[in-house]
Amino acid sequence: MESRAGGARYVRLYERRLKSDMNADSRARLNQMPEWTALGKHREELGEVRLRELFDADPDRATRYTLQVGDLHIDYSKHLVTDGTLRLLQALAAATDVAGLRDAMFRGGKINTTEDRAVLHLALRAPSDTVIEVDGENVVPKVHAVLDRMTAFSDRVRSGEWAGHTGKRIRNVVNIGIGGSDLGPAMAYEALRSFTDRDLTIRFVSNVDGADLHEAVRDLDAAETLFIIASKTFTTIETITNATSAREWLLSGLSAGQEAVAKHFVALSTNAGKVAEFGIDTENMFEFWDWVGGRYSYDSAIGLSLMIAIGPERFREMLDGFHLVDRHFHAAPPEHNAPFLLGLLGIWYGNFHGAQSHAVLPYSHYLSKFTAYLQQLDMESNGKHVDRDGNEVEWQTGPVVWGTPGTNGQHAYYQLIHQGTKLIPADFVGFARPVPELAPALAAQHDLLMANFFAQTQALAFGKTPEEVRAEGVPEDLVPHKTFKGNHPTTTILAKELTPSVLGQLIALYEHKVFVQGAVWNIDSFDQWGVELGKVLAKRVEPALTEGVDVPGLDPSTKALVGRYRELRGR
Ligand code: F6P
Repeated sequence: MESRAGGARYVRLYERRLKSDMNADSRARLNQMPEWTALGKHREELGEVRLRELFDADPDRATRYTLQVGDLHIDYSKHLVTDGTLRLLQALAAATDVAGLRDAMFRGGKINTTEDRAVLHLALRAPSDTVIEVDGENVVPKVHAVLDRMTAFSDRVRSGEWAGHTGKRIRNVVNIGIGGSDLGPAMAYEALRSFTDRDLTIRFVSNVDGADLHEAVRDLDAAETLFIIASKTFTTIETITNATSAREWLLSGLSAGQEAVAKHFVALSTNAGKVAEFGIDTENMFEFWDWVGGRYSYDSAIGLSLMIAIGPERFREMLDGFHLVDRHFHAAPPEHNAPFLLGLLGIWYGNFHGAQSHAVLPYSHYLSKFTAYLQQLDMESNGKHVDRDGNEVEWQTGPVVWGTPGTNGQHAYYQLIHQGTKLIPADFVGFARPVPELAPALAAQHDLLMANFFAQTQALAFGKTPEEVRAEGVPEDLVPHKTFKGNHPTTTILAKELTPSVLGQLIALYEHKVFVQGAVWNIDSFDQWGVELGKVLAKRVEPALTEGVDVPGLDPSTKALVGRYRELRGR
């Protein structure tokens, strides 16, 4: 985001560098960099450093190791790091030129090299006077033109001005999409439920399992239902199959012909040709662009269902929240830069402690889909085994991301985090205030929720020593069972309350954290070739199930299973 001339020049320089990297491997292999080796040595020297000791040695640790970014108070004091560790991690970020890649992204450089695309989700929330160019064209005016169209459409639906084919007002909105065309709006709708128009029923259908659509529409009146078909490519088999079934359901419910589609179907896509082919008037299409990755798209037109639910004003507040963290990521020095810090801490555990997974544990019922959303964001971005140059990586890349809201998880899998054999770094996300609409008695429960939130991070960090257990009079044979080793690292992210802006801030924080990690690992965080093979094979296998066709290339195990399936299916 800067003057046209300067930005374009930098992009050209960076792209030249990226291209030469692809050919000549001008960047040293990550694990051969002195900064990497230094971290390995430091890890050995630190040994089993104890959080208890780190806090004892530095009374200011709890305040020094915090950051305030917008509304987010981020405490990283309960991590197995010293000032020296952080310095070495920052040196690695500098050596791998994370900031250079970040700047190239902000300037519209084609940093998604395997797809030859710019990566510009940040343009989706940039103020209208920003200039961000792709191939010499400023994309920001296009973004705002679509936002304005979404606003006008949402207002018409919310006010009842947009009527269905029979003249009835729309009361139900069903978003049909999958992956990035589902998880984002579905997650954000849950997160911001208390801001939604409660007279509207908003549902999300993603699974090609017909049960998903069945359950979503079984109690709806077709005359009052709007379908939003969300698909970047408009070729995704699950979405097109569900959209086709939804159209049949609608037309049979209305006893109408194709002419009814116009009032009940809109499309969110980059592919106008396919939208028209499906039978949706491109007048009713809200566009986005190939420089928006699916998993980075819910603040684009893909968020239309959310905008209808919460209203355009709240949607724009959310965009402002995203933008606030974009600016922080772009401008804050790396040592005070939250995405840098969180990304580097993940590298510390994944690459130097052997941690395989990362838990995200929101203490908010409204964030029930938050971690599922982050799974796609993180795992589809950084689940890669070759680097940008196509070489097999010799270091671990993205972790398994998992988790569910507290306190439920405490009664399920926290046992393993506390006393199991695995190191599982975790993020705790919580809010000081419940949503305003809770009745006083329910709002009062919030303190109990948050007491658990704080208690868990304390227990994870500091545990309970055998001496403390014995002092409680526990018989000796039970002491090992009741001892908590502690030393389980956590980040605490605390905000006043869950608002649209805060949600935007949180998501941007994780987007950029994923970016930092991908930049260090030298992988392309913005492609997703790994989902292709399964898709191709599913298409090939389907006729074997439906018609018993002898599909060439089926391995013996799959062939036998298909045979058994057909028997059980009565074919
Ligand atoms: O799972 C692969 C993927 O391409 C995701 O990246 C994407 O979010 C999802 O499929 C849906 O794609 P589309 O929006 O094109 O239907």
